[in-house]
Amino acid sequence: MRGGTRSVAASVMIGMKERPDRAAWLKGGEARCNVRTEQCGRPYRFVLLGAPGVGKGTQAELLAERFGSCHLSTGDIFRAAKMLSCGCHCGPVMAEAVKYMDAGQLVPDETVLALITERTKCFQCGGGFLLDGFPRTVGQAEALEKLLGKQDVKLDAVLSYELPLEQIVARLSGRRTCLICKRVYHIEARPPNRPGICDHCGADLFQREDDRPETIRVRMEAYEISTAPLIAFYRGRGLTISITAGNTPEETFERTLEALNNRRALEPNGF
Ligand code: AP5
Ligand code: MG
Repeated sequence: MRGGTRSVAASVMIGMKERPDRAAWLKGGEARCNVRTEQCGRPYRFVLLGAPGVGKGTQAELLAERFGSCHLSTGDIFRAAKMLSCGCHCGPVMAEAVKYMDAGQLVPDETVLALITERTKCFQCGGGFLLDGFPRTVGQAEALEKLLGKQDVKLDAVLSYELPLEQIVARLSGRRTCLICKRVYHIEARPPNRPGICDHCGADLFQREDDRPETIRVRMEAYEISTAPLIAFYRGRGLTISITAGNTPEETFERTLEALNNRRALEPNGF
């Protein structure tokens, strides 16, 4: 670890080592998480931005382990609903959303915002949060600002990850995800100890349906048109931190910590 990042790292070695089960986020409604967050230190609240496959979910896992913040991914909500295969949480609206996802298109703002509104208690999570995949349009970002404002919750930073397209495509085609705990692997860059089996919970790994080449193209276009403008949106609010997502996940994570540490140097009352 570089000297410059050590102070941040040390200051965030907080109590919550267990990964939160995210029941409230993934299931919505009356579901509650079974993780105690009282021992967490100062809650950190970040948005992770970046093209599909850039490594947002991977960095969110590393950040969650380090900061104790809860990893809140909207894509994970849709995939969890799909896995329930028309159980009580997979009504017609969710079934429609899953169709958009499988085609690589963005789910309409109205649907996404209804899901988020149901889950606003997650913004009060004692460990803070890492928003991964939300917001994804300027409309969603404006709605998030209002929701957070009502709860008097402020974002600490928006981490914008960047990588050339050909490297992103290689990452997506080798990705494998745990059926149960949603941990993310890569068959070459981040392989599990036993092929096809999650190191963390022992469940099977699967390949996402939206990782087919033709769907990847649609997702990239949706990102460029609808999501990339959020980099400037949050820059205007002084929140965007750009981070190169190349090299290993651990190196990207080090760059993230360094960028956050620099940010603290710039804003003494911030981090
Ligand atoms: P979502 O689940 O958010 O997918 P995404 O944005 O397309 O991003 P990915 O999860 O594909 O990539 P990632 O950046 O997390 O990369 P990862 O860490 O896995 O959304 C899915 C769909 O849901 C959307 O297309 C849309 O339809 C819908 N949706 C969700 N939210 C929505 C919203 N708010 N509004 C509207 N629609 C919404 O890494 C990728 C691979 O690379 C992995 O295999 C990983 O192991 C590997 N890897 C990561 N880092 C490295 C590294 N440094 N070196 C080598 N390999 C690496
Ligand atoms: Mg992801």
